[in-house]
Amino acid sequence: MNMASASPDNKSGQSAETRKILVWDIPIRVFHWLMAGCFAGAWLTAESESLRLLHVTLGYTMCGLVAFRIVWGILGTRYARFSTFVRGPKAVARYVGSMLRGQPEHHIGHNPAGALAIVALLGLTLVVTGSGWANYNDIAGKWLEKTHAAAANVMLAVVIVHILGVLVSSWLHAENLVGAMIKGRKPGRPEDGIRSAWRSVAVLMLAAVVGFWWLQWQDAPTGDGFGDFQTISMKFRDDDRDED
Ligand code: HEM
Ligand code: HEM
Repeated sequence: MNMASASPDNKSGQSAETRKILVWDIPIRVFHWLMAGCFAGAWLTAESESLRLLHVTLGYTMCGLVAFRIVWGILGTRYARFSTFVRGPKAVARYVGSMLRGQPEHHIGHNPAGALAIVALLGLTLVVTGSGWANYNDIAGKWLEKTHAAAANVMLAVVIVHILGVLVSSWLHAENLVGAMIKGRKPGRPEDGIRSAWRSVAVLMLAAVVGFWWLQWQDAPTGDGFGDFQTISMKFRDDDRDED
């Protein structure tokens, strides 16, 4: 167990010395909300032929985000590093046991059970996007199309478990975990906080994502996914010119 970040919960997780400390750096938060947005977008566009390019673009974005997350899981800040939250079955069992006894271990970063869902989501993203890519490029037969849709369904199930887990954990620890994933802060001892929010890395990540979207938009033939939007935006531009 990572003793530096785990302790029996005193329900509020607060003591005289605790205050709001920085736990999640900005790259983690930007990564997280981009993943959630892209997942929702890819899901909503999955069935549409005309939005295929948008679907594929959101999928590739998720794959790139996971590649970044793997690097950040090795080089990143304390609670972002896999070594601080990926634990074996014993730690997961101990955490679940502590929850069942009504005295859940308190972890400043991810708890061992939540970490399981997180690792599953990162791995499933690679399976879904890998099979999607092979399918899109006609690399294998019908079975890959089925694998892609099936893996996406499994991923949706894990996302639902993940969100329920976050809500239950927030309630058990009387802690707003969603707010922490937005603002980056949780109650804790000052010495447990991370020092830098790494804004510059987050700006580079956002620039890479927006740049990739822009390139996809430029390459889109009209009438294909983004192309539908391009046709609409070109029409508005032409209408503006006519009025001048
Ligand atoms: C690199 C990323 C991705 C690529 C290239 C890609 C490509 C494709 C393609 C070509 C299809 C159509 C298959 C067909 O002919 O029926 C498809 C369907 C589908 N995709 Fe993706 N995809 C990607 C990412 C994702 C992600 C991240 C999700 C999860 C949210 C997802 C969920 C689905 C689902 C559920 C379908 C089946 C839709 C149906 O029932 O017709 N895809 N994808
Ligand atoms: C509205 C929907 C969602 C909410 C409210 C939410 C909330 C959260 C919260 C609060 C955490 C931090 C958990 C902790 O404190 O241990 C977290 C972590 C995480 N979530 Fe979500 N989540 C959502 C959707 C998603 C989706 C759709 C995905 C994947 C496609 C996802 C993937 C992850 C990952 C990978 C982490 C770990 C963050 C990291 O360390 O990089 N989440 N989520």
